This record gives sequence, C-alpha cells and structure tokens, in this order.
Amino acid sequence: MNKYIRFILPLTIAATACHSEQPVATMKEHFKNDFLIGAAVPVDHVNGLDPRADSIVTMHFNAIVAENCMKSEKINPAEGVYFWDDADAFVDYGERNGMAVIGHTLIWHSQLAPWFACDSAGNYVSAYVLRERMRNYIHTMVSRYKGRIKGWDVVNEAILDDGSYRQSPFYDILGEEFIPLAFEYAHEADPDAELYINDFSMSCPGKRDRYVKIVNDLRDRGLRIDGIGMQAHIGMDYPKIDEFEKSIVAFGNTGVQVMITEWDITVLPTVFTGANVGDIVQLDEKYNPYPEGLPEEVSRAWNERAAQWIDLFKRHSDVISRVSLWGTYDGMSWRNDWPMTGRTDYPLPFDRDYRLKPAFANELLSKN
Ligand code: XIL
Repeated sequence: MNKYIRFILPLTIAATACHSEQPVATMKEHFKNDFLIGAAVPVDHVNGLDPRADSIVTMHFNAIVAENCMKSEKINPAEGVYFWDDADAFVDYGERNGMAVIGHTLIWHSQLAPWFACDSAGNYVSAYVLRERMRNYIHTMVSRYKGRIKGWDVVNEAILDDGSYRQSPFYDILGEEFIPLAFEYAHEADPDAELYINDFSMSCPGKRDRYVKIVNDLRDRGLRIDGIGMQAHIGMDYPKIDEFEKSIVAFGNTGVQVMITEWDITVLPTVFTGANVGDIVQLDEKYNPYPEGLPEEVSRAWNERAAQWIDLFKRHSDVISRVSLWGTYDGMSWRNDWPMTGRTDYPLPFDRDYRLKPAFANELLSKN
C-alpha cells in the first residue's frame, strides 16, 4: 500500500468514528501506559458555559491545568485581596472528575499582579519586601490547595533563548536567587506537591543547557524539583523536531520528569512581536489567511506534523510523564488572539465543531 493510501484509509474510518459522537477510544485510555494527557481549561468549561468542551475534557483528559484563573493578576489583583471563586471551582472540577490538577503558575513576570513588585509610588520594592511577598503569596496559594494539586508550575518563563536570565521584576530585584526561593517556599507550603519549572522555546541550545544547570543547582542545594515543563507552542516550521528531541533527552537525563505542558501548533504566519503574552498587535488581514476554513493541503500538513509530534512524545514516554494541550478545540485557543487579535487559527486537536482531528483520531485507532 502506498503512503498516500495508508494515510487516507484511516482518515475515513476516523472521520466516521468522530462524527458518530462515539469515539472508539479516548485519549486518556489510549495513552494510559505512556503519559498523562492533559488540557488547559478556562473557567467557562468549569462553570458549565461551554458544555461540549466540558464533555471533551471529561471524556479524553486525565489532567487539567488552569488557563488563567490561578495567575496572580486574576487571583490576587491587589495586595491582600484574593479572588478564589474560579480557582476553587477549577480544583473542584478536577477532583470531581478524578483528574490530576496542575497549578499554573506561581512566579511569572507576565499576568503579574501590578502591586506585586512595586510600592505605592510604582517603584520596585526592596529585595527583602519582594521575598516576603513571594513567601506570603506562594504559601497562601499552595496551602489553600494542599493535597489537592498534584504539581505546581512554580516558575514560568525565567530564561531567554540564549540561556541568559530574563529581565523581570523578580530577576531585577532578587537576581538568580528568585528561582530557588520560589521552590523553597512552595515546598514549605505543601511538602507532597510536585514542583516544576516551565518555559517555551525549550529546543534552543542555550535554554536547554541553562535549564539542565538550574535543575542540578536546585538539587545540589537540597531543594525539591520534580519536572521540567516544555510549553511547546509550536508552528508548522519551528522548532526542528530533532532540536526539541535533544532537549527532551537532556532534560530526561537530569533524572526529573519531562512534561509537555502547553502544546499547540499554529498554522498562521509568524508575526514578530515580543515573546510576552502582553505583546499583542491589532489584526492585519494579510496575516490571517484562513478565516473561512483551512484548505485541504494545509489541514493535511497540520495533521502530518501533529502525528510526528505524537510519535516523538511516545518514543520518549520513558521520561515524559504528561502531555498537556493548551486548550481543547480551535475556537477557544489563545492563538486566535496572540500575538495578533482576531485571527482564525487551527492549533488544537478538536476543530471548531468539537470534532477530533485526523492525526489524533488515527492515533486512537492505532494499537498502542
Ligand atoms: C495565555 C492564555 O491562554 C491566554 O488566555 C491569556 O490571555 C494569556 O496567557 N505561556 C503560558 C500560559 O505559560 O499561561 C499562556 O496562557 C500562554 C503562554
């Protein structure tokens, strides 16, 4: 059978399977001997406002991560003011459905509450004050969900692609020490919780080397670190799969778990802004080529690329303990609005009609 026929045949079966609303298998069942399979969940899913997405999450996933509701700007918008409703509902939802609940994220320069590192005049606070605020915040968050959150993304996006430290309020005020401090505080608050460090562009050699060093340094100091999260917000032509694979191997060799934490594959042309989630530009239609649907050849290329990455993750399931998608279906993906607002992207395993795409449907039909 030639390659083309081999690809088309399972597609046909898969399409039937997913239109029937009775998939032959679920992702969590299929990958159960490989890794946890997770999804980022917005509060809409949890609060019953998107029931079809809710069914997808409960049917296919056994790990969830909070898309936004546990970030400091949401949960602790002003000093001493906590808004717990959404995060509480999110954790309840995960527990009710028997899922591993992942906390995201404790120390991150983006979506950081504006008061966190500043005094009332808007100037940076002292190192002493920032340490106290970090300790207090991390203790408050982690203790509240003690025993209920499997693991925390303790520090997010601390390193630049070349391996140097990102300038951020935490780094500017505390230097490199902010990372070990965050891990120390999180472990104090829940000694049983797993603790992770998370970042994007993990295929970059400089970043790879730096994270290996950070993990080794944390352990040399006797601090707990359980895993390295590789976000994996990827595109059709970046990163190179073998560079990403080198990082999986290097991270696995440190002895901690490797996690794919925020996987999605954009099909849209790259818009060069900064790498921060706050770096957003207005819609320019020339960067939005598929507002009405994905041409067949682009869809096929997307599914081929997704299948290659699924294979990659399975090949390394000895070190990869979780693969989490950054969402469930295309209509809800953050990629529709970042780094340019109002585009139409197709980055997730379920399409806008909540149907599983061929790469994943075929995978579920295959013997694992
Ligand atoms: C994104 C959310 O998906 C968006 O809804 C929000 O507007 C910005 O943040 N890296 C991370 C995630 O660690 O927290 C980000 O989530 C995506 C990039």
